[in-house]
Amino acid sequence: MTAMTPEHPSPHWIRARVAHHVRDLDRSTRFYGGLLALPRRGGFGGHDGYDGQFFALPGGGELELTTGPGTVGDPTEEPLVLYVGTLPEVHAAAAGLEAAGVPAVAAANPYWNRWGRTFLDPDGRAVVVAATDGRAAADLRIEPYTGDRDALWELFELAEDSPTQLASYLTAGRVLVALADQDPVGHLQLVPREEGVGNEGAMEIKNMAVRPQWQGRGVGARLVAAAVELVTAERPAATMVVATAAADVGNLRFYQRQGFRMHSIERDAFTPATGYPSVLVIDGVQLRDRVWLDREPETTR
Ligand SMILES: CC(C)(COP(=O)(O)OP(=O)(O)OC[C@H]1O[C@@H](n2cnc3c(N)ncnc32)[C@H](O)[C@@H]1OP(=O)(O)O)[C@@H](O)C(=O)NCCC(=O)NCCS
Repeated sequence: MTAMTPEHPSPHWIRARVAHHVRDLDRSTRFYGGLLALPRRGGFGGHDGYDGQFFALPGGGELELTTGPGTVGDPTEEPLVLYVGTLPEVHAAAAGLEAAGVPAVAAANPYWNRWGRTFLDPDGRAVVVAATDGRAAADLRIEPYTGDRDALWELFELAEDSPTQLASYLTAGRVLVALADQDPVGHLQLVPREEGVGNEGAMEIKNMAVRPQWQGRGVGARLVAAAVELVTAERPAATMVVATAAADVGNLRFYQRQGFRMHSIERDAFTPATGYPSVLVIDGVQLRDRVWLDREPETTR
């Protein structure tokens, strides 16, 4: 294997996905999402004739279910997908594998040929080396969203574990979306905060999320920057506030990187009484307490 020589350095993997081509997408979605209770992480429809659903796997990584023109049992329809950030990184990783004599094949699903290269492991199983997406986060457009909020349910769901809570605020306030072409890949919902944390006229980021394949590339930061700009233009003296789970240390880091500071902790905010599962664990920490963060108005920073 030459993928670790100076000419072919090891790829920098950023996420992984296991794909299953299924006969009946609804039935398999009920199996993995319902019976096995894997959290759903979005989906797509009509891409080169393929429909798909994504699920989070415990410990990281995703399961992708697809239906379409392919054949169940075709190894290239059941690949292990290893992601790097960009297409040049795909080509570099592919060069290392080719130099080592690993057989390359064309995938049945054109998506994998467009964004990756498919190889066969020693037992003939397919491994796709893919780019998360060729488009840069800087090429996205951030816009106010005026369409039907139900169409964004899957994005909102990424940030809300209680369907009851989500239904109660889905249509509230205003929403900014990050669009890749016409496709919303991230969103941020802003609502006025009546009382509690924040000054008079405070604005709360009630829900925000970025599709998993777009995370970690600056989309979330751009959405927060756009929200700050909007609030500053309309209510220059308003504090911005946001709440997140104490268990989600990644989110705590994210918001602090965007200029928020910790304000207070609401213990036992996430309970069955408020619509949350009785035991939910994020990265080994039980979901229980809510952390409020706030960001001073631009004028006083
Ligand atoms: C939280 C979320 C919106 C961030 O969006 P994103 O596009 O991935 O974030 P960005 O790429 O703009 O990240 C900006 C910075 O935050 C960091 N960051 C983002 N998510 C992080 C995480 N989970 N853990 C650690 N750091 C994280 C990034 O590394 C980056 O750091 P840098 O400034 O040092 O480069 C996104 O991860 C998401 O949708 N998560 C699932 C839904 C969710 O939890 N929403 C928030 C509910 S309160």
